[in-house]
Amino acid sequence: MNRIVVGSDHGAVELKDELVRFLKAKGYDVTDIGTHTTDSVDYPDIALAACDEYNKGGYAFGILLCGTGIGISMCANKVKGIRCALVGDLFSAQMAKAHNNANFIAFGGRIQYATPVTEMIDRFMQTAYEGGRHEKRIQKMMALEDLP
Ligand code: RB5
Repeated sequence: MNRIVVGSDHGAVELKDELVRFLKAKGYDVTDIGTHTTDSVDYPDIALAACDEYNKGGYAFGILLCGTGIGISMCANKVKGIRCALVGDLFSAQMAKAHNNANFIAFGGRIQYATPVTEMIDRFMQTAYEGGRHEKRIQKMMALEDLP
């Protein structure tokens, strides 16, 4: 699967556009669900649109962006089936896949990262989910969605 869905609020449009170019240059089929201008939008709307698109199927993973990555990742994690990791360095990028099998990663357009976001995305993509003892935990995590 080489399809990736990307969404951002107005707090990270520039970073989103950079990431879309980066991923397309690597040969990925990118669905950019917006936003496309710096006009203010609400990150819960973007999170839901991107997660709904992902849940249609056929995507390897998704990337969500807002000013900090915090609000949009919180929203994504309320959508059924989504495991969104707020990533801030290479180690968290790697563990988000290896241990948590994240299907979304989130970043902030207003955050000064020590490592370029493109490198963190590369690390996430190059890492395999380890399964094994982690699978039981993922199953338990997803079962939380069904609590009354
Ligand atoms: C929007 O101003 C800002 O609150 C949003 O991008 C994000 O940082 C929220 O978590």
